Amino acid sequence: MMGPTLTGQVPAGFATAPSLMRRPTFHNTPEGNIRYSFKDRSIHGGRKYVAGCLSTIANAGHSTGDIIAKENAHILQTYGRVPIVMVRGQGPRLWDADGKEYLDFMSGIAVNALGHSDPIWASAVAVQSATLAHVSNIYYTPQQAELAERLTQKSFADRVFFCNTGAEANEAAIKFSRKFHFAKGSARKEFISFSGSFHGRTMGSLALTSKSQYRTPFEPVMPGTLFGKFNDLESARQLINANTAAVFVEPLQGEGGIHAATIEFLQGLRSLCNEHGALLVFDEVQCGLGRTGTLWAHERASVTPDIMTIAKPLAGGLPIGAALMTQSVADSIQFGDHGSTFAGGPIVCAAAITVLDRIEAKGFLEHVNSMGKILVDGLKDALRGCERVVEVRGTGLLVGVQLSAKVAGKVVTACQTSGLLVISAGDGDVVRIVPPLIITEDDINEAIPIIKKAVLEVEA
Ligand SMILES: Cc1ncc(COP(=O)(O)O)c(C=O)c1O
Repeated sequence: MMGPTLTGQVPAGFATAPSLMRRPTFHNTPEGNIRYSFKDRSIHGGRKYVAGCLSTIANAGHSTGDIIAKENAHILQTYGRVPIVMVRGQGPRLWDADGKEYLDFMSGIAVNALGHSDPIWASAVAVQSATLAHVSNIYYTPQQAELAERLTQKSFADRVFFCNTGAEANEAAIKFSRKFHFAKGSARKEFISFSGSFHGRTMGSLALTSKSQYRTPFEPVMPGTLFGKFNDLESARQLINANTAAVFVEPLQGEGGIHAATIEFLQGLRSLCNEHGALLVFDEVQCGLGRTGTLWAHERASVTPDIMTIAKPLAGGLPIGAALMTQSVADSIQFGDHGSTFAGGPIVCAAAITVLDRIEAKGFLEHVNSMGKILVDGLKDALRGCERVVEVRGTGLLVGVQLSAKVAGKVVTACQTSGLLVISAGDGDVVRIVPPLIITEDDINEAIPIIKKAVLEVEA
């Protein structure tokens, strides 16, 4: 239970919130909740953001136990959750219903690129929701057109298809690949993906996902997927042929354990696809949009795909996905081939525009690179000599600590107890560290000793 809060007092979290907006005012409600409201006008990047009298109720009046019990009683149990109820976030910090503060180095699994409750993002969402929230894709909206223009201007792509999640973006890429070949008169059926891959949990994207335990209970998933060995071009050469519709690869595997594709591997796949007339799909759902210190993770290989899928950070915490493609792929798609009721709605697109504004702002990617270096160097220094630690690796702010055993879950729990949120990856043997891209050196200096302490605890 959050402690008692008197009218006008600022609860934990808001008090220290760095904000462009004026501080909110707080009032207790008879139900024991906290109502807060704030007003502000700000001009940022040539856009005007106005959050007028936005009023929300923070659900602080219910105890952690009550909320967990309610969840257990009513929600399909597909998530092995930790017993924490999150009620508030600001920048790289989160607060639970008991008032405990956390430094968030997992960003909602690589989603909250701007941290939590970024004031400009929040203002854009508030203004858009008070203006126009949904009209369906039967009509045009300025926000969707602008976001698509921004994405094509900043990538290899000529066209964008919007959807709602990473899995949906990959599902769209599967359909577009099939249609591309169908339109050419060759119904290619096969897809190649790689060991360690994660592409989602729908029947098509799941078929491309390497962990068999995710697939087995749901078979048959989409037939025709062949798995090569990640970073082994020869294994791809043996699988690709005139039946291959597309090759799917993550330029940097996140769920798989923070493994970067080598430049030679990405370039070799491009050549193999060209040779065999197959499409190359880069899944940048987790590694794209600045996470690795460049806007797109594949930039370092100087090759481009035919289709790229993106999602997680694009709308800064709202659900969005997109498949970006060349005109050649787009030419095979006709009205009615694919669609989605909610995709590319004005609110998520307005939110995404603020995320792109920020990532493209001068110095932002340099910040990601320098924070990534400080984080990796600091972890290497701190963890040197730890028996359990095999390697610290990462690009930009997608960082992994490879452990010698499947004890990442224990390290994650120990970090959490000390107020730091990280997640596991790989085979339960990698601690994945994916902080918001706006973190500072002070945040990193706070996190590293906690990670070290957690690793030592697990070693003991
Ligand atoms: C590389 C990659 N592709 C696809 C997905 C699926 O995204 P979503 O959970 O939004 O469906 C994920 C999610 O972790 C991912 O990391």
